[in-house]
Amino acid sequence: MAAAMQRRKLLILETDRALRRELEAVFSDLDVTVCETSEQTLATVRRTEPDVVLFDLGTAHKPAVAAQSLELLRQILNISPDTKIIAMTEHDARELAVAAVGLGAADFYHKPLDAGVLSIVVRRALRIRELEEENWRLRERTGAMALEGIIGVSDAIRSLCRAVEKVAPTNTTVLLLGESGTGKELLARALHRLSGRSHKPFVAINCAAIPDTLLESELFGYEKGAFTGAARRTAGKLESGDGGTVFLDEIGEMPASLQAKLLRVVQERTVERIGGRTPLSLDLRIVCATNRDLTSLIGNGGGSFREDLFYRISEVIIRVPPLRDRQGDSLLLAQSLLQQLSARLGKPTRGLAPDAIRAIQAHRWPGNVRELENRIKGAVIMAEGAVVTAGDLGLEDPGDDPEYLNLRVARQRAEAQAVRQSLAVAQGNLSRAAELLGVTRPTLYDLLGKHRIDAAQFGRHAAGAADGGAMKADASPAAGGATSLVTDAE
Ligand SMILES: Nc1ncnc2c1ncn2[C@@H]1O[C@H](COP(=O)(O)OP(=O)(O)OP(=O)(O)O)[C@@H](O)[C@H]1O
Ligand SMILES: [Mg+2]
Repeated sequence: MAAAMQRRKLLILETDRALRRELEAVFSDLDVTVCETSEQTLATVRRTEPDVVLFDLGTAHKPAVAAQSLELLRQILNISPDTKIIAMTEHDARELAVAAVGLGAADFYHKPLDAGVLSIVVRRALRIRELEEENWRLRERTGAMALEGIIGVSDAIRSLCRAVEKVAPTNTTVLLLGESGTGKELLARALHRLSGRSHKPFVAINCAAIPDTLLESELFGYEKGAFTGAARRTAGKLESGDGGTVFLDEIGEMPASLQAKLLRVVQERTVERIGGRTPLSLDLRIVCATNRDLTSLIGNGGGSFREDLFYRISEVIIRVPPLRDRQGDSLLLAQSLLQQLSARLGKPTRGLAPDAIRAIQAHRWPGNVRELENRIKGAVIMAEGAVVTAGDLGLEDPGDDPEYLNLRVARQRAEAQAVRQSLAVAQGNLSRAAELLGVTRPTLYDLLGKHRIDAAQFGRHAAGAADGGAMKADASPAAGGATSLVTDAE
């Protein structure tokens, strides 16, 4: 509600002074900023992220000016993608208006100015902006959560869950890639649960757990008398998954002889029982998983995995990030598993001691969630005291500074990091850095003093060695992890 009470922000970019005045008067109920130049406009957009920009693109008669206008429009949307831009043009510049809409403008308006009509256009754009915000708030509350049974708050796990939601209803063959214990099977089950096949079977086959000699009959089944001991016709696992989802776990371990047979299943959706003569058609969704780097097993890299099969099973690849790359998840998982396991094991719920919390956050979790689960289980069984300590988990207390949970400290660190990053990008130019940060120069001076940052260090020639590292650290972890989750292997 508070957002709705706030006056909406309108930026007017118009070179004609008389028209600027007139527009200001028409929209006097809004929080209006008028700009004349592109520099002013970009600085204002950075600082205020206006709801709507009323942008006079000029006429089509001056192609150079028109090109500049379109470039500015692109930059505005780059900085503030949610801003609605209304492209105003001269009466004769239809194509320019169309080009603007093509670049992402929300609407256009041809001069001459008709205050009533223009007001409707602007208010319609504001309404769209409000609806988008409302939608976003609702999604934040509901949609941005992890999936049922999947615990996590990190950006990485959220994007992962969104990816699962997107592909689940399709029949696409999905390959889940991730280290051991990251939750691949859990996600495969979620893919099934969220699909139209949820009322049909989910059949999991661990290709590594079944001896090569048995895997074939396990997968494909056999006819009576197909081999010694085949006393009666037996359906294979693929057949029993008809209508549902078949999960082929540890697909990288599948013997070469079976890969060719599996390729046929994937391509034609038919199976032939051992000793059988007629292929059976099946309706299957296939999901595969592996913790191995399949591409290195293909061809020259050793040749133990068929390239054609790889492409068939990897229509969509979902990468499941290791626990250490999911910020905040290890502690949340630990707390939730502690509750679950102590209830299940009939031991009263204990909390985590401060040294356990520190240890959980510092540990690298090479065995991922499975390792966490095992350590918590062990601790619940073994712990003597009222709370679980780092020692109960078999972890060492890293003795980190106790401020890590303090929001004020976290904010300050983020602030200092942003200032350093802007200075690095601006190569020490204070006006530019202030502009990037969306603050005034005096504010930037205050920030430099507060965080004891020496801007001169970031100057054109001094930059590099010292701060290149800091920049990399800022840019990589969260963003990189989150965006590389899903790749559509076309
Ligand atoms: N995000 C999560 N929330 C809750 N439990 C999880 C999560 N991720 C994994 N688990 C639990 O951790 C354990 C390991 O998960 P899962 O078996 O799905 O991993 P995996 O990637 O298949 O591992 P492996 O390679 O060892 O087979 C399971 O008990 C699973 O329920
Ligand atoms: Mg598994």
